Amino acid sequence: MLETLRSRFDPSEFALEEQAPVDSDPGPTSLKTPVVFIPGDGIGPEVTRSARAVIDAAYPHIEWLEHEAGQSVMLSDRSRGIPEQTLQAIADTGLVLKGPLGTPIGVGGKSANVTLRKHFELFANIRPVAELPGVPTRFSGAGIDMVIVRENVEDLYAGIEHMQTPDVAQCLKLISRLGSEKISRFAFELARAQGREKVTCATKANIMKMTEGLFKRVFEEAAADYPEIAANHQIIDNCAQQLVMAPEQFDVIVTTNMNGDIISDLAAGLVGGLGLAPSANIGQSVAMFEAVHGTAPDLAGRDCANPTALIRSGIMMLRHIGAFQAATSIEHALYATLEAGRHLTPDIAGTHPAGTTQDFTSALIDNLGLVSPSVPERPVSAMRIPRARASRAGSVARGFVGIDAFVEWDGHVDALADRLAKAIRRLPFRLELISNRGMQVFPENHATTEMVNHWRCRFFHDGSVGRQKEQQAICALLEAITNVCTWMHVERLQRFDDRRAYSKAQGE
Ligand code: NAI
Repeated sequence: MLETLRSRFDPSEFALEEQAPVDSDPGPTSLKTPVVFIPGDGIGPEVTRSARAVIDAAYPHIEWLEHEAGQSVMLSDRSRGIPEQTLQAIADTGLVLKGPLGTPIGVGGKSANVTLRKHFELFANIRPVAELPGVPTRFSGAGIDMVIVRENVEDLYAGIEHMQTPDVAQCLKLISRLGSEKISRFAFELARAQGREKVTCATKANIMKMTEGLFKRVFEEAAADYPEIAANHQIIDNCAQQLVMAPEQFDVIVTTNMNGDIISDLAAGLVGGLGLAPSANIGQSVAMFEAVHGTAPDLAGRDCANPTALIRSGIMMLRHIGAFQAATSIEHALYATLEAGRHLTPDIAGTHPAGTTQDFTSALIDNLGLVSPSVPERPVSAMRIPRARASRAGSVARGFVGIDAFVEWDGHVDALADRLAKAIRRLPFRLELISNRGMQVFPENHATTEMVNHWRCRFFHDGSVGRQKEQQAICALLEAITNVCTWMHVERLQRFDDRRAYSKAQGE
């Protein structure tokens, strides 16, 4: 066994001194499970190397296929940060263990992480959050043991952004029935497989009634199919407060992409920080395991990053491929290492002398075979990856109401309204309202809105024409608007089954 490890890793890097226990024979290479291994950026190579050594020591049946992705690729060939060979290898194997990938902030290319998640429709991001032994926190003993299930491909992460004027930027928040249903059902299936009793849906449906509201409604529909599991809803900001005030109340939380990103880091902080928090990104044909943390540039190359998060992601991967015994063995060794309090990395060492990433890895491998009483016993059965039901869009009756045109205008709102009203006087539309930064400023304006050169002009159709003429009328309306100002974005206002399918302006 030691030979196998030494042939893959420089032993000086991990100072492996003893043969680690394994739960079965390695078997021929052809029977090994191929896994794409992406070291990543920053601390990525250090923590992935650690996780790989631990997994090899407990389960020498993985064939690691090392591939590149991330900032180095992005900088070298200005691509999206994921070479074609890496994508192909992931498609072939369906399994990835990866380090974090750096993303330029505010400028430059898209996040390679987000691209990977979207490319393979890894719609479910699973982030378990539980207290660990030997890691004292403000919440120790509170009984924190939850899983955050984050929708992973939609929402603001669809990444559809535009500068609408030189001074106003827009990011489209896209939430679909399909995405909401898949993730809601996934959360219930996960609760069922892990013997968990409650799923909490966390949204901002009180403010974003169309987007977050759709997610909440679809969650409530899905809940009806899982009557044995309690289902409730919390507004996301209250959920954040509850996570800090009474974290033990949560079992499974399911939420939209942006909410989930924020509360899962918050939850990681409750139980010792990002160095401990694992995650899995699951789709129908690919599963990708990675730590919640990023590249931690402040720690990179210093052999002090905590590899626990990635090792725990590896444990999730082993369970995913059915290597339960090896997964449990690593979990016990990890808990035993944390309990012993020696060789812990600086982020969790507390008053103990801190060890390095490599010290911790070697100590953990030495502890394989130990049994820790702190490992929670939770029945875990195989889970179904749910699909969404067929869309019901075909049966929805639609009515055309009008148009929201977003325009750039540097003058006073009354002048804009006056000129628009004149420009459209022969068309089957009337100017219903104008809003600025979401606040109605025409026809009535009692607010002290500070205005920018970006206006939403709402035109209601008078209903006098049929569907064919309706299209011509919209084109004529846009032409008329163009004679007054520049429009940069148009939305169709509709009623679905006679329900308003657009939001009102603030103050309307
Ligand atoms: P970060 O997670 O890299 O670091 C936040 C803080 O946590 C830092 O103080 C860091 O030292 C600490 N930390 C993180 N991992 C740790 C570990 N294993 N052991 C001990 N301490 C640890 O977040 P940040 O600084 O916001 O992002 C840095 C870069 O990482 C960005 O380019 C970001 O886009 C990328 N990123 C990549 C992710 C991925 O590949 N899945 C996820 C999150 C961020």
